[in-house]
Amino acid sequence: MDKDSTPPKIALRDFQSVVKKDLEEFSHHFKEAVKVEHGLLNMVVRYFLRQKGKRIRPLLVLLTAKTCGGVRERSYRAAALVELLHTATLVHDDVVDESEKRRGVFSINALWGNKVAVLLGDYFLSRGLLLALDHDDFDLLRVLSNAVKRMSEGELRQVQRARSMDVDEASYYKIISDKTASLISACTRCGALSADADPESLQSMGEFGEQLGLAFQIRDDLFDYGTQEVGKPTGADIQKKLVTLPLIHALEVADSSDRQRILNIIRKGRKSRQNRQTIYEFVESTGGLLYAQQRMEEHVKSAQSLLRSFPESESRRAMHALSQYVITRKK
Ligand code: IPE
Ligand code: IPE
Ligand code: MG
Ligand code: MG
Repeated sequence: MDKDSTPPKIALRDFQSVVKKDLEEFSHHFKEAVKVEHGLLNMVVRYFLRQKGKRIRPLLVLLTAKTCGGVRERSYRAAALVELLHTATLVHDDVVDESEKRRGVFSINALWGNKVAVLLGDYFLSRGLLLALDHDDFDLLRVLSNAVKRMSEGELRQVQRARSMDVDEASYYKIISDKTASLISACTRCGALSADADPESLQSMGEFGEQLGLAFQIRDDLFDYGTQEVGKPTGADIQKKLVTLPLIHALEVADSSDRQRILNIIRKGRKSRQNRQTIYEFVESTGGLLYAQQRMEEHVKSAQSLLRSFPESESRRAMHALSQYVITRKK
């Protein structure tokens, strides 16, 4: 990307401040929701929650609620619920991906093994479901259960896709929509529901979340090609024969001998600095990184245009800035 098109730097706190008090209230609900009395579970939960993560999803719930009429008590529960479900899926995802690091520290599976990680993920999930049930939040529960279902489908389809080394762009999009955008879209829908938004607003906010979610995952997939410290391993996707958007595009535009050469390297799955370098240079020189960057920006533009139907407000501006942050973030 050339210098002139570099978007202005945006920090999370720029828009966190708009719902500062609400985030504190969410944090309180979240802590209550994961309270554990004693034993191994307590130790593991405390270890995991020490590293907070960016908390983009609860932020999105609260900003959406505010843009749609106002944050209510139910909005805090929705925010706590999405963060619980997100946490559960991260713990499970690291088992699936055999990943040793999360949020800059060892993953649960790396420290306690897969058994504990699977059970802890289930525990977070069930605490989330109970939180909603305890307050008869059936509408939120419906939206979020559907997202969890799609996330599992997406993760499973991704396993299948890696096995067959599928490099089709449409199947990539289906997966990222299911595994990531579904939850982000559920955040905006729940935020809108909690503020009793009208059906049209609910629809627009849901679509905003979907577009933002696609951009979010493309950004995450671009991290895998980078060398910067993002708190989790990079270069892992290729290793797992997972072909993401930058490489999909590079393979699409390359001539057939280059394409075969690269596919062979991936198929053999040998881990070496040389192979990683070869693939990186291939993706870079064929414009794969730039392509993914552009697609990501398009999704954010679509998301931002959906905000226009809402009255101008501080929270709407914050949602606009948040969507820009998603594609410029450094972790
Ligand atoms: C990581 O999500 C999982 C993906 C969908 C790529 P985040 O980047 O929001 O994770 P935390 O919560 O900030 O650690
Ligand atoms: C994100 O998947 C986790 C889910 C959406 C369930 P990834 O495997 O792509 O994300 P990271 O890079 O481990 O966070
Ligand atoms: Mg992973
Ligand atoms: Mg994964």
